[in-house]
Amino acid sequence: MNVLELSHVHKSFARTEGEDVTQALEDINFTVNDGEFLSIVGPSGCGKSTIMRLIAGLIFPTAGTITLNGEIIKGTDTGRGMVFQKPTLFPWLTAEENLHFTARMQGRRRDSQYMAEAERLLEMAGLSEFRNDYPHQLSGGMAQRLALIRTMINNPKVFLLDEPLGALDAFTRMNMQDEILRLWQQSNHIVLMVTHDIDEAIYLGTRILVMAPRPGRVRADLRNDMPYPRIRTSDEFLQWRKKVLGMLDFGQKNTKEV
Ligand SMILES: Nc1ncnc2c1ncn2[C@@H]1O[C@H](COP(=O)(O)OP(=O)(O)OP(=O)(O)O)[C@@H](O)[C@H]1O
Ligand SMILES: [Mg+2]
Repeated sequence: MNVLELSHVHKSFARTEGEDVTQALEDINFTVNDGEFLSIVGPSGCGKSTIMRLIAGLIFPTAGTITLNGEIIKGTDTGRGMVFQKPTLFPWLTAEENLHFTARMQGRRRDSQYMAEAERLLEMAGLSEFRNDYPHQLSGGMAQRLALIRTMINNPKVFLLDEPLGALDAFTRMNMQDEILRLWQQSNHIVLMVTHDIDEAIYLGTRILVMAPRPGRVRADLRNDMPYPRIRTSDEFLQWRKKVLGMLDFGQKNTKEV
């Protein structure tokens, strides 16, 4: 059983000018267990990516602690896989070489089971035919899909997704949402996913963390018990939409569209 815990986490960044600091996160507290899918929503600049980078071990809290299974996170680890807001691929490797990068670095044997999973992921991401292309030859959406499956193939204990589907068209996006769901349900691991898309947050999350900016903080941590597969047009779903939009202060403006 994996347990990720953020306890009284603060993060400030020095500004380049003057002695000012940006209070990116203030007193963040939450715990996520195996089998939970935490959707994170909130306005730009409220610290969503900062939370992800802290859990990934790329940066460290100014105060407070982040632990996985009781151990303080001291750096990056393939057990905590992150897909960044902007796809980060190795430009000198082909799509397929990018996919196999971690396995190669770790000297992991690429047995038939691994290769079958790689094929399945390439197929699912619509990249089979582009396996020998380099990142600069891929479209933005293809690059993002490749970044996603490159992390999926490592089956991380904690899967950190920072707006991984932002560059995708609506259809591909919905397919990838189902693929992320499938992966999470199979592994029963922890997923944290930042999204600007309220429907996406509701469609996926067993919990929805609503954040507020300046300083970045948690406004609400909502349990979403709707059974899967969720129906985007159901009354219950629309109620959820109103609720989350209301918390983001867009309730009034947007209820007409619902
Ligand atoms: N390395 C850094 N140096 C200085 N300030 C930073 C740094 N990283 C983030 N910040 C600041 O911290 C705040 C939170 O940034 P963060 O990237 O976490 O926001 P976000 O919620 O992910 O926004 P978006 O939705 O636009 O991606 C912002 O005010 C940002 O300017
Ligand atoms: Mg961000």
